[in-house]
Amino acid sequence: MEEIKKMLAVVVGITTQLLIVGAASYSDSDHLLSRIAFGSCANQSAPQPIWEAINKFDPQVFIWLGDNIYGDIRRPFKIIGKERTIGPWKNVPRFIPSSHSEMLSRYNMAKNTPGYSRLRAKAKVIGTWDDHDYGLNDAGKEFSEKITNQRLLLDFLDEPQDSPRRKQAGVYTSYTFGPHGKQVKIILLDTRYHRDPLSSDGSILGELQWSWLRKELSGPPTSITIIGSSIQVISNLSATTGPLFYMESWGRFPKERNRLFKLIADTGRDGVFFISGDVHFGEITRYDCAVGYPQYDITSSGLTQAVEKVVPSPFHFIVRFLAWFTPNTMRVMSHNCRYRSCTYGEPNFGAIEIDWDAVPVTMKIQVRDINGLPVAGIDISLSELQAQSSTIKAGPYRRHCSLEVMLPWVVRYRLAILVYFVLTLLLLALVGLIVAAILVCTVCLSKCKID
Ligand SMILES: *[C@@H]1O[C@H](CO)[C@@H](O)[C@H](O)[C@H]1NC(C)=O
Ligand SMILES: *[C@@H]1O[C@H](CO)[C@@H](O)[C@H](O)[C@H]1NC(C)=O
Repeated sequence: MEEIKKMLAVVVGITTQLLIVGAASYSDSDHLLSRIAFGSCANQSAPQPIWEAINKFDPQVFIWLGDNIYGDIRRPFKIIGKERTIGPWKNVPRFIPSSHSEMLSRYNMAKNTPGYSRLRAKAKVIGTWDDHDYGLNDAGKEFSEKITNQRLLLDFLDEPQDSPRRKQAGVYTSYTFGPHGKQVKIILLDTRYHRDPLSSDGSILGELQWSWLRKELSGPPTSITIIGSSIQVISNLSATTGPLFYMESWGRFPKERNRLFKLIADTGRDGVFFISGDVHFGEITRYDCAVGYPQYDITSSGLTQAVEKVVPSPFHFIVRFLAWFTPNTMRVMSHNCRYRSCTYGEPNFGAIEIDWDAVPVTMKIQVRDINGLPVAGIDISLSELQAQSSTIKAGPYRRHCSLEVMLPWVVRYRLAILVYFVLTLLLLALVGLIVAAILVCTVCLSKCKID
């Protein structure tokens, strides 16, 4: 029995090893990489004028961070009637997957967007997926179309037919660009294929992808390592927007998130930062108390999808006010931001410029608008992204260190308090109006009778 167990363990070990070794990775040591653009959330059926600005930025590499197309079908909000999509009485899901041929036609539409075609001709385009191009809103490992849809994404990205990435479970991969001593590594995670249900505090990456990631991070050092995650890594917006609404993020999987930070710390890798998408606004966040040096997460979302578009333009100021009013502990606030909130709820893309001649090497990372103008940005020197001997410990409250869930509850829930307060006022006003109307009517009626 013991023998069989041992043999099994060896076989499993070897298979895992083969799978990990087989994972895709790409290397180009000829070209120094100094201009990278990234973006997410592009509706293939909507006009995409932002490619103009991205082409003008002239990136050598463009990174898709997911929702590269909207593949699923969204039913309208319906509280009453036959097909109800919200409320406790709902009887159909709000989102449903579309057919294979519909997915294919949406990808074709996206690929033939004129500005994007021009970009593809000049820049190397790489990417990962998020829920809507995976095939279904908020879907994880249970989603049955994932194998077919993996092929569709890899076709969209022109992944070679013999690439190991077409044979593995999930689309995670890595790239190394630049000559020795000036290398940039780009690691793209798959946050869908192996993800456990939301609120399970289970896994996002799955064991196989974790082993692969460990190998990638412990591998040969590079000056810069960019980790692309479709969902935000550092901001935990749900902690301050709940119970009104919740967003997907690494913060919703606290154990998994700690494992990620611990892995970066354990491998001793310097120069790591994150880029992300998903949320339909742009922001830059920073967390000082995870690894031995500040962790940045630059979020650009979306190329077409943006929170301010949800309401007519005269009401955009309300969206901006709410963005400013919602508390946060990790966002990088700077007077250079376009708006006070330092978030940007209109279409945007991310732009990274590396100055290899500066000593130490510096990076300018910006979220840019549809005209290519910065709306938020940071300049980071690589010497800042190096482990310090003394790690910072969380004090009573420290910006870029205390988690959102540590905020006093009046602060943490002030958005919900404000919304419920306004709703109550509106309701009272409505009741008052009805009562007044009834009173006026009865007075009128009795007067009529007397007359
Ligand atoms: C995409 O754009 C089309 C055309 O403007 C619109 O009808 C559709 O609702 C949009 N889809 C999403 C997911 O925003
Ligand atoms: C993020 O917020 C959610 C919702 O409040 C909470 O359950 C979770 O623990 C938070 N995660 C972290 C890392 O603080």
